[in-house]
Amino acid sequence: MNLHQLLRNDTGLVLPDEAVERAVRERRLRLGLSTREDYAPLPRTPEFEALVDLVTVPESWMFRDPEVFDAALRFVQRRLLSHPGRQLAILSLPCAGGEEPYSMAMALARAGISPAQCRIDALDLSQAAIARARHGRYTRNAFRGADLAFRERWFDSDGGGYVIGETPRRYVRFSQGNLLDPAVPARNAGRYDLVFCRNLLIYFDEPGRVAAAAAIRALLLDDGLLLSGCAEAPAFCRGGFAPQSLGAAYALQKQALATVRLRPRPPPPVANAKRPRVDMAPTPTPPQAASPAAVTVGRLIAQARQLADAGRLLEADQACRAALALQPELAEAWFLLGLIGDAGGEPRAAERHLRRCLYLQPEHYEALCSLALLHEQRGEAQDADLLRRRAARVHARGGKQGATR
Ligand SMILES: C[S@@+](CC[C@H](N)C(=O)[O-])C[C@H]1O[C@@H](n2cnc3c(N)ncnc32)[C@H](O)[C@@H]1O
Repeated sequence: MNLHQLLRNDTGLVLPDEAVERAVRERRLRLGLSTREDYAPLPRTPEFEALVDLVTVPESWMFRDPEVFDAALRFVQRRLLSHPGRQLAILSLPCAGGEEPYSMAMALARAGISPAQCRIDALDLSQAAIARARHGRYTRNAFRGADLAFRERWFDSDGGGYVIGETPRRYVRFSQGNLLDPAVPARNAGRYDLVFCRNLLIYFDEPGRVAAAAAIRALLLDDGLLLSGCAEAPAFCRGGFAPQSLGAAYALQKQALATVRLRPRPPPPVANAKRPRVDMAPTPTPPQAASPAAVTVGRLIAQARQLADAGRLLEADQACRAALALQPELAEAWFLLGLIGDAGGEPRAAERHLRRCLYLQPEHYEALCSLALLHEQRGEAQDADLLRRRAARVHARGGKQGATR
């Protein structure tokens, strides 16, 4: 197995070749090794970890996505009331240079919650990142928001930098750890009330995402809460989590316990009939039901459209599938999958998805038009014509909005 494969197997990271080769060159120079063949570190050795430090992306900053910390604090406050006398446990994994766990510590301290009531374990694969986190000294790069009052309150100035104060430090315990190392969930199974796992799965391939979601499931208490990054929520949904509506944060719970109470959704108003390719201009229908799951489904569909508009078809596809995991008969999600399949050069899959949409919602005007065009492109004029007539009847009955093609 070559070094690239070893790195991927061990860390889950999908690394560009240049990044690995650059890191190898740097380590060889440091060690004085003249040929590439001489450099063959084995996983879980100090040299392998030194290499890993050079290929990881420990990009983070204080209160990155502030609404996530608001949601986390609300969850902790509610939970302290429902579990009086118990110390709550939070996990920040990956914690990079400590920005995320220290942000949560500042939020807890500001709310008057003590380390005896709530503590934070913070893990990262990178030894160097953990060393930086323990040191706790940050430059301006770690402070990117507009409101920096927290810096005055919880940091000490130190030359050009800022050192985290004693109060937030007391909440956090750092250690080096690999989420994909089975020992990590085995040691801490079912320990955490709240887990932050943000901006990690985006660097993994699908087997890595599956393993990561399983590890987080094992670490989280059955009624605990997971806060993920926006692009990562669909992968967690596929891995046994269900989204919860918690303000703007991407919050999830283990599927079995999530309160998925979906009411049937009225058919969405049919929008512009012009079949978009990658530009999916119609605005999403806001969810009619007020349950958290229905709100989440609406958000996932809106997100899928935005991602598709931006040409991020894979992520758009994932967002649709996450919505379908919650509401399998959501015609709009099948319609979007049809457009995404077509834009991605998979006309057969596109047809299957559009037909599924029409099975669920036979008068879906856009799906009728899109399917007609697919047939037309294949030279199947008769099928195309039939579908166009169906679309025209829907149109005549007033079942569509926007311009016809
Ligand atoms: C972009 S940072 C995210 C930090 C923080 N969660 C945030 O959202 O700001 C990604 C971090 O993931 C860490 N990492 C990569 N693979 C990992 C793994 N298999 N287990 C634990 N941490 C990992 C890297 O070392 C890096 O510090």
